[in-house]
Amino acid sequence: MKKLVVLTGAGMSAESGISTFRDSDGLWEKYRVEDVATPEAFAANPGLVLDFYNQRRNQLYTCKPNAGHRGLAELEQDFEVHIITQNVDNLHEKAGSTNVLHLHGELTKACPVDDVNTTYDILPGQEIHLGDTDRRGVQLRPFIVWFGEAVPMIEPAIRKVEESDILVVIGTSLNVYPAAGLLNYARRGQPVFLIDPNEVNTYRKDIHYIKAGASEGVGQLIQLLKKTVR
Ligand code: APR
Repeated sequence: MKKLVVLTGAGMSAESGISTFRDSDGLWEKYRVEDVATPEAFAANPGLVLDFYNQRRNQLYTCKPNAGHRGLAELEQDFEVHIITQNVDNLHEKAGSTNVLHLHGELTKACPVDDVNTTYDILPGQEIHLGDTDRRGVQLRPFIVWFGEAVPMIEPAIRKVEESDILVVIGTSLNVYPAAGLLNYARRGQPVFLIDPNEVNTYRKDIHYIKAGASEGVGQLIQLLKKTVR
């Protein structure tokens, strides 16, 4: 089976009702990154940061995977599919994708502030509050990679892209590194598809651009793959 690697961003989940970050109604229009998404913000005002992620998590429980998520899960019948997502939601997993790498963490997990490698599942309805600790008494924080923090999953993500036969990019403005740099690792000449309803700036000229939202775009991708790559 051919190896199909899919890099997804916030646009993948937009049709499930989760705001993107940089569109006109995006999250970063309503909040300042420096107030809610950096280690410095958490040190200065942990309650505000915890509350921001509790809200995001509570909202996630009201959302369902869309046809785009479901289409990618179905592609596992014909391809070895590896999803690399910048999203912190769990909609790829809910749709049935079995191989999902989260570059920027997961909303449904917590970790102690001194050890991002130890994670705990947050059950539906649970929140993280000040005073919630692990067994050692260390405060818990959202398992989210904040701006300015290391992105430990980038190395395995690079290897996946290097080994891919086909690369698909869906719903990311490619503004945030190192994730945006993953396109560098696709081989010259291999098929690269990009699904986005808006223009996305990328230096690669060999991209097959599918100008559509995630649900419609994944439908078109499936038809194209049937015709062109087997
Ligand atoms: N279907 C597909 N793509 C869409 C849709 C849709 N229905 N609606 C919007 N988009 C596209 C936008 O055109 C844009 O290119 O999704 C992209 C969203 O870009 P961003 O908001 O910048 O999100 P993303 O690229 O995932 O952000 C990267 O930035 O703030 C951080 O950590 C956060 O993981 C996030 C990272």
